[in-house]
Amino acid sequence: MRMEPAIRGGVHMAQRHDSAHKHVTGEAEYTDDIVEPVGTLHAYLGLSERAHAEIVAMDLEAVRAAPGVVDVFTAADIPHNDVSPVGKNDDPVLAAGKVEFLGQPVFAVIAETRDEARRATKLAKVEYRDLPHVTDVAEAIEAGYPFVTDPLKLERGDVAAAMAAAPRRLKGRMRVGGQDHFYLEGHIAFALPGEDDEVTVYSSTQHPSEVQHMVGHVLGVPSNAVTVIVRRMGGGFGGKESQPSLFAAIVALAAKKWGRAVKIRPDRDDDMTATGKRHDFLNEYEVGFDDEGRVLAVDASFAARCGFSADLSGAVTDRALFHADNAYYYPAVRLVSKPMKTNTVSNTAFRGFGGPQGLIIGERIMEEIAYALGKDPLEVRRANFYGGPGRDVTPYHQTVTDSIIDKVVDELVASSDYAARRRAVLDWNAKGGVIRKGIALSTVKFGISFTATWYNQAGALVHVYNDGSIHLNHGGTEMGQGLNTKVAQVVADVFQVDLDRVKITATTTAKVPNTSATAASSGSDLNGMAAQNAAEQIKDRLVDFAAEQHSVEKDQVVFEPNMIRIGNRRVSFDELIREAYLGRVHLSAAGFYKTPDIHWDRAAGKGRPFYYYAYGAAVSEVSVDTLTGEYVVDRVDVLHDVGRSLNPAVDKGQVEGAFIQGMGWLTTEELWWDDKGRLRTHAPSTYKIPLASDRPAIFNVKLADWSVNREATIRRSKAVGEPPFMLPISVLEALSMAVASVADYRECPRLDAPATPERVLAAITRLGGW
Ligand code: MTE
Ligand code: MOS
Repeated sequence: MRMEPAIRGGVHMAQRHDSAHKHVTGEAEYTDDIVEPVGTLHAYLGLSERAHAEIVAMDLEAVRAAPGVVDVFTAADIPHNDVSPVGKNDDPVLAAGKVEFLGQPVFAVIAETRDEARRATKLAKVEYRDLPHVTDVAEAIEAGYPFVTDPLKLERGDVAAAMAAAPRRLKGRMRVGGQDHFYLEGHIAFALPGEDDEVTVYSSTQHPSEVQHMVGHVLGVPSNAVTVIVRRMGGGFGGKESQPSLFAAIVALAAKKWGRAVKIRPDRDDDMTATGKRHDFLNEYEVGFDDEGRVLAVDASFAARCGFSADLSGAVTDRALFHADNAYYYPAVRLVSKPMKTNTVSNTAFRGFGGPQGLIIGERIMEEIAYALGKDPLEVRRANFYGGPGRDVTPYHQTVTDSIIDKVVDELVASSDYAARRRAVLDWNAKGGVIRKGIALSTVKFGISFTATWYNQAGALVHVYNDGSIHLNHGGTEMGQGLNTKVAQVVADVFQVDLDRVKITATTTAKVPNTSATAASSGSDLNGMAAQNAAEQIKDRLVDFAAEQHSVEKDQVVFEPNMIRIGNRRVSFDELIREAYLGRVHLSAAGFYKTPDIHWDRAAGKGRPFYYYAYGAAVSEVSVDTLTGEYVVDRVDVLHDVGRSLNPAVDKGQVEGAFIQGMGWLTTEELWWDDKGRLRTHAPSTYKIPLASDRPAIFNVKLADWSVNREATIRRSKAVGEPPFMLPISVLEALSMAVASVADYRECPRLDAPATPERVLAAITRLGGW
């Protein structure tokens, strides 16, 4: 038998990111690189100086008179002054009458150059009447501040009875910090006016359709007048899910008013101050358990600093509850969310979407029980994993049918040599030196699907031109995660052509309408399926055509690598396309996909919100200097489940990147607001993301290559973007172990996150070290 050469870059192959070389050489085009038409104007935002105040008077004369200034907008100039992504009418483009956080956009300057616009903003005289403000979530609860959106309750079983009957109980509380997205490319929008009511907006957005709808809403024009285009983002991480609309609306408005192109690009400091971040949480829990360490009841609340408006806080705080069980079965459980209003920037999506802030409580509960019983936390985790019938229902009443957590953990325990290394760490610490070590294994089970069920749909558009080249468009956006590469691999695979034949094109609302945000890790699940559907429609037409043309049965038409076999004849893809074109075959198709079998009743707190789960585990080892609180991560071993990977190279990169980003969230990245409500960590000088040198010295990342999604996802793969973000909880717990060693592990140190060296030192001191 003759072996067919495989196509280059098909599915399940390690294929480098389609733009990797352009990212490093600087050739990749971002919004700010688009050639500006003559006469392009530049916008800049004037930000509130108060956390909560009435605007008594605004004197913008000096701003208007400044060199280069063309126009100044205030709320009164905005036709429909709202960009709330959830229709709550609480997200003004420009503050109207009052400001609700320090940094809120109050006015916008349009000038000939960016520098002129920026300098002019400093000349405004705004008179405020201060109102009491609250920035912290605990203060907000105390002050009786409202929820920004309806809270959620998940409940199963009789919690009070199960708690009362439990042989052991403990209560705890954990603060979990927020996080700035620190995308390399900040927010940016660039608008070109068209004729009549039309406008085209280039936006760095994960959600072009929402920007389109919001720009239409603000301008008072229908969606068909607005076209939004994004070739790629320099990172989004959730920060560009709802936040880009404000910037897009300002430039669209100015572009229409002045008939000129208009661009806005805030400085990093303003981007950090004026746009939403990960929610920090204040979580409280009570757990009842037995002497084996098995959980009997969990009662927990999750209060989040949502900021001044709802934004996506409803879905984010819901997802915290959805993940508070992690991979563990809670026989009786009650979980409630408290989406607190605060006078801070409105917090938003960030990798994991609230899931990490909930999931960390599942892991903290395991750690707490282990310390209470003097056990290895791994043993407690294993005792609580979801199991078969009777131990397989989540707090939201979805049955877990696909758990592979035991296998993942068993394999990782072996490959990381966990048991021997834990013994070595205990022995090391027993010597009582200044440097203490810790080692911990933590797990992840992450639900895949948007919990807003209608978002689980996608579209794609595939054209085959008559020279045989393929044009691919889909509703997802590229932010570095490699989505375009994966979707192109799927299309190449359907046609059995080399990947370089498939041209990836910019996402635009004009080609695929009504798309969902590229979020919830579902980009390749949804768009991969939609593109496959489009490609298969064309392929079916080609098969019909070839069968008829050559008088063979349809099953005699076979797409082989870069060749089509039609009966006894073989033709190249180019030849077939040429014949099909001349035979007047429709060589373009719109594809569609919606996730099957999911439903969610929020009021009842019951349903099957997730199509499936992704699993993973990590073992981290750290060394802590107990005199200073400084630490290093010595070694990390990860085993992560991506089903049958569409692209193991890209997926591994996602796991590594997510781990390091999550490690930053839990260790060094600290957001700090002063008593005036001013964010003081608004630049890399004061906000510390992980450096290349913070990468663990040994970093073994492996995909569970035996895993196959049991659901019929795109080529049986699983989503990868967010789940591994939670693996570095193992780093936090390893730090905790090193700290606990100073008091012979008698007590769980209950480190809050981020566990900065300062916080680690405080915990050591509190436990009586030195
Ligand atoms: N990877 C890179 N390089 N840049 C990003 O902005 N965003 C993350 C993740 N990985 C992000 C990333 C987030 S928050 C999500 S939801 C997913 O990618 C979105 O893309 P996907 O659905 O295609 O995985
Ligand atoms: Mo990701 S937080 O869902 O954009």
